Amino acid sequence: MKKFQIIVFISGNGSNLQSLIDKTKESKCPYEINCVVSNNPEAYGLERASINNISSVVLDHNSFKSRSEFDSALEKEIEKMSFDLIVLAGFMRIINKNFIKKYEKKIINLHPSILPKYPGLDTHSKVIENKDKFHGATVHFVDEGLDTGKIIGFSKFKTKEINSYDSLLAKTHEIEHKLLPKICSLIALGKVIFKNEEVFINGKFYKKGKEFIF
Ligand code: GRF
Repeated sequence: MKKFQIIVFISGNGSNLQSLIDKTKESKCPYEINCVVSNNPEAYGLERASINNISSVVLDHNSFKSRSEFDSALEKEIEKMSFDLIVLAGFMRIINKNFIKKYEKKIINLHPSILPKYPGLDTHSKVIENKDKFHGATVHFVDEGLDTGKIIGFSKFKTKEINSYDSLLAKTHEIEHKLLPKICSLIALGKVIFKNEEVFINGKFYKKGKEFIF
């Protein structure tokens, strides 16, 4: 039987892509990665794809005259592919509304905060500025807003003993690398259901998304 197929969108280092790849090396992994898409030709994640024999597509946004030209090129590329899920793992471009509508409930995003707190950029600085006791990461379905889609799950940690931006970033990555493969596996196994505008995991409804404790 064909495995559940994922396309991963990246823009940079791709450490989260790596965590998804590492999971595929486990015999019971329910998904495979059929392509990596990057808007940045220099993204190290492309190297990770190549090392692991995963095909990739580069659409350098700087080489398009306008945002809409980039968007339609992206749409054309994706139309050619067969897949079950698109995972935005550090993809630093806003996805066009038509694209989101077309692939509704088929795109998820990884965000470095406990949403709905701190949508957008610079989440780690905000946690430091506000002296937050907790920080974390969230995976959500993508809708037309900025990090506003239905939350599937999140993971958090205490910031207490973490005293610098870099260590906060590192700790966030550490939990992201567990959270993202876990949620992708649950989706691939059909255990995440998005119906009537609500998300159910293993048949259970979680108002604020399920907390994953690692
Ligand atoms: C992650 O922190 C993710 O939450 C955010 O971008 C970062 C990507 O890191 N959206 P990497 O490229 O996967 O290392």
